[in-house]
Amino acid sequence: MPPLILNPLPFLLLALLCLSCFSLGFSLYRDTQILLRVKNSQIVDKNDSLKDWVPNGYHNPCNWTGINCDARNQSVVSVDLTSTGIQGGFPFGFCRIRTLQNLTLAQNSLGDIILPRPLALCSHLRLLDLSGNLFVGGLPEFLSDFSELRLLNLSYNNFTGDIPASFGRFPRLSVLCLYSNLLNGTIPPFLGNLSELTRLDLSYNPFKPGPLPSELGNLSKLEVMIIRNANIAGDLPDSIGKLVSLKNLDLSTNSLSGKIPDGISGLRNVEQIELYENLLSGELPQGLSNLSSLRRLDLSLNSLTGKLPDNICALLLTSLHLNDNFLEGEIPASLASNPNLEELHLFNNSFTGKLPEDLGRNSELMALDVSTNDFIDELPRYLCQRNKLQRLITFKNRFSGALPEQFGECHSLYYVRIEDNQLSGNVPPKFWGLPRLQLLRMDNNRFEGMLSPSISDVWELEKLILSRNRFSGHLPVEICELHKLEALDISLNRFTGEVPSCITGLRKLQTLRMQENMFTGDIPSKMSSWADLTELNLSHNRLSGTIPPELGSLPDLTYLDLAVNLLTGEIPAELTKLKLNQFNVSFNKLYGKVPAAFDHQLYLSSLLGNTDLCSPDLKSLPPCSKSRPLSLIAVIILAACAVLLVGSLLWFIKSKSFGFGDKYKRAYKTSTFQRIEFNEEDIVPFLTSENHIGSGSSGRVYRVKLKTGETVAVKKLWGGTEKEETESVFKSEVETLGQIRHANIVKLLFSCSADDLRILVYEYVENGSLADVLHGEKCEQLMDWSKRFSIAVGAAQGLAYLHHDCVPPILHRDVKSNNILLDQEFRPLVADFGLAKTLQRVVTEGAAPMSRIAGSHGYIAPEYAYTLKVTEKSDVYSFGVVLMELVTGKRPNDPSFGENNDLVKWITESALSCPEGGSGNVEGGWNNLAHVIDPRLDRSTCDYQEVDMVLNVALLCTSGFPINRPSMRRVVELLKEYKVSRPKT
Ligand SMILES: *[C@@H]1O[C@H](CO)[C@@H](O)[C@H](O)[C@H]1NC(C)=O
Ligand SMILES: *[C@@H]1O[C@H](CO)[C@@H](O)[C@H](O)[C@H]1NC(C)=O
Repeated sequence: MPPLILNPLPFLLLALLCLSCFSLGFSLYRDTQILLRVKNSQIVDKNDSLKDWVPNGYHNPCNWTGINCDARNQSVVSVDLTSTGIQGGFPFGFCRIRTLQNLTLAQNSLGDIILPRPLALCSHLRLLDLSGNLFVGGLPEFLSDFSELRLLNLSYNNFTGDIPASFGRFPRLSVLCLYSNLLNGTIPPFLGNLSELTRLDLSYNPFKPGPLPSELGNLSKLEVMIIRNANIAGDLPDSIGKLVSLKNLDLSTNSLSGKIPDGISGLRNVEQIELYENLLSGELPQGLSNLSSLRRLDLSLNSLTGKLPDNICALLLTSLHLNDNFLEGEIPASLASNPNLEELHLFNNSFTGKLPEDLGRNSELMALDVSTNDFIDELPRYLCQRNKLQRLITFKNRFSGALPEQFGECHSLYYVRIEDNQLSGNVPPKFWGLPRLQLLRMDNNRFEGMLSPSISDVWELEKLILSRNRFSGHLPVEICELHKLEALDISLNRFTGEVPSCITGLRKLQTLRMQENMFTGDIPSKMSSWADLTELNLSHNRLSGTIPPELGSLPDLTYLDLAVNLLTGEIPAELTKLKLNQFNVSFNKLYGKVPAAFDHQLYLSSLLGNTDLCSPDLKSLPPCSKSRPLSLIAVIILAACAVLLVGSLLWFIKSKSFGFGDKYKRAYKTSTFQRIEFNEEDIVPFLTSENHIGSGSSGRVYRVKLKTGETVAVKKLWGGTEKEETESVFKSEVETLGQIRHANIVKLLFSCSADDLRILVYEYVENGSLADVLHGEKCEQLMDWSKRFSIAVGAAQGLAYLHHDCVPPILHRDVKSNNILLDQEFRPLVADFGLAKTLQRVVTEGAAPMSRIAGSHGYIAPEYAYTLKVTEKSDVYSFGVVLMELVTGKRPNDPSFGENNDLVKWITESALSCPEGGSGNVEGGWNNLAHVIDPRLDRSTCDYQEVDMVLNVALLCTSGFPINRPSMRRVVELLKEYKVSRPKT
């Protein structure tokens, strides 16, 4: 028999092979179709990120963007479209791919459409990542068939409400991340049922204040628990000690109270414990000593009491933070024998005694902050033995003796604050030349000797504060080589000789305090490089010569004190150009007529004590005539005595409340509003002129590139003399922006304050402000009408969110094109909440007199000028002006409008002059308005009907009567509806 017929096996095999081939091919074919359908019908791919998702002959999507197949390329197992810019709601269609395991859609804009609950179809997924999409509404429900899910990440959205019970029923879930949402229910006990959980992160949610459920102690596989800033209150449950696998425990910035439970000793694998910023009290538990794996312990900002147990020091800690507690007693010497210790922060406690003599000798100590305690005796001389010490902070103690000679070799030091101690003697000469120093504060000690010329080596130095010591000799000219110097304070010392004239070459200088020394000679002139100088105090010296008129052209100078010197000549009229908060030239030998601007009762005490000054108006000064009646001289002498008394009293009060660190509380107070990977130390040193990108009414703005590669924008608020206003701007940014998130509102990441510093850190926005672009050099980037239109819609959405979706509603109060930022894709972000208030506060505080008018010229609603009452309709008005700016490309008070006219009047008049009953497009009635449209706009992109509609909305918004203005929500609708609605005039 022919063998062919006898042996059917090969055929059978072949047939089977073909079948499986076909079915495999078919599944990829099917997946290809699914992917294409999702692309075409479920998502908006405006960046064209998925341009390679096109039908191909192979019916094989395995090398498309974001697609991964299994090892043999036979089925799609993962879709990862992180940061591709896709929009349009959750694309369920992907779940139709039966072999799909991982679905990652992080950092997109899918949150435009609310996620349906329950989340069906996708129950075969192992990984679902929807983080960073600004989804709103409740968290999705997961039906019980989600038995495969290992990782669920829904962080960085705006989910609200409770965590649904279905979140306690994932049998295999290993990672659950819900941080940075707006969840406002409670932390549910049923999360303790997730027996496979290794990582739980619920940070940054406004949960209802409540305890940490003790059931979470059942998570025996948990390695990481991070629930920062989430309103946890009450005692830390003892069951926390059952988390035997835990490596990292972070419950910082909550309201935990009571003692740290002894049960904590059960965390036998824990490496890091962060419980800072809570209300914990009582003594540190003995059980801490059992945690032999512990490397980092931060219990700062609690109310812990008692002594530091010896056993803590025996742990191999790399970093120990116990700041801001009520701890007392001496530091056990054993701490100094720990070979790992890198950071020791004990500030704001009541520790006493000496610091261990060998501190720094056995480990690579990088930071020491023991400020505001009651330490005595000398500073340990080995602190910098390993040449790693960067931050030496010991202020407000009673350290005494001289600075150890070894400190002169500490080339790693960049931040030194040893002020407010009793340190004395000569400073080691090499210490003056430490090359990395950025900040050196030694004020209020008993140091003596000369400032060494080697100071010129400290070319990174930004602040040098030596006031209230016994330094003497000349100020070396080498000081002029410190080109980064921003603050120089050598006041209240015994310096002699002339002020080096080269000092005017320090371009960065903002504060120069040299008062109460024995300087002689002239005030340096040629100060045109002092563009940043805000404060100049040369009072109480022996300076002679005349007041240089150049002072009058310093653009930022607000504080000028030249009192009690030997200055002669007239008060230069140029000084009247300055906007001074403090002005004092009293007790010199000035003569002549007081310039008109100072000829005012307000300035009297600033002028007295110059017998030859005369004034036409001020009674206490002699009138400006040749001969002076005798009796007047007596009056003047009497008055001068009285004034001297009052003046010195005033000076006394001022010197108490002024000066740098009088009201010092702690080195930095920081708040974090989003998950971030940096802290103040990554920011503060980089606020340098190279990074300076602009200045606004509230402060300077810097661009800082972080170690992580990310770029942030940092606003450093004006400090010093305008403190009260600075404080209120700072508070309102933190209170409003810190709590809200919206795709069209700039993200505040972090804030940080210290005594003379207030900084706010925002996401960096690539293109600057709308005003910068529209009215600046980059304007050609906004010649496309559709871009301007989407800016209008986006900004309106951001404001509508503030007015209608925030509880309580928030008024911005300073809406203008400068405060609308544009990111890389020209998405608008509303920024600068320095004047913002919640409507509640506006209502309760009513029309209380404000230190300055809220808002900016050209954008302020007319009713505000006479009622001082702000409502959300005032924001609507300002937004209307922004719309007009977008259409016309003109600034709101462009000089071409002439006196007493502005953009709103100009447009309104143009509208009124147009004939009634026009058809509404540019060929009709609006023909007259063609001349208001920005001539630079690329006409081919102009949809005149849309321009026309925007102008109409702008006119409605800027209606004279608030009641006629639409709400912001309505404005969004009007813009999106694309209807032409002519205002009835
Ligand atoms: C990947 O794409 C290229 C075309 O860009 C195609 O030639 C190639 O065959 C594809 N590979 C697979 C495995 O589909
Ligand atoms: C899915 O994600 C997990 C966790 O990131 C990863 O370990 C796994 O390899 C991924 N699986 C696939 C098929 O990409």
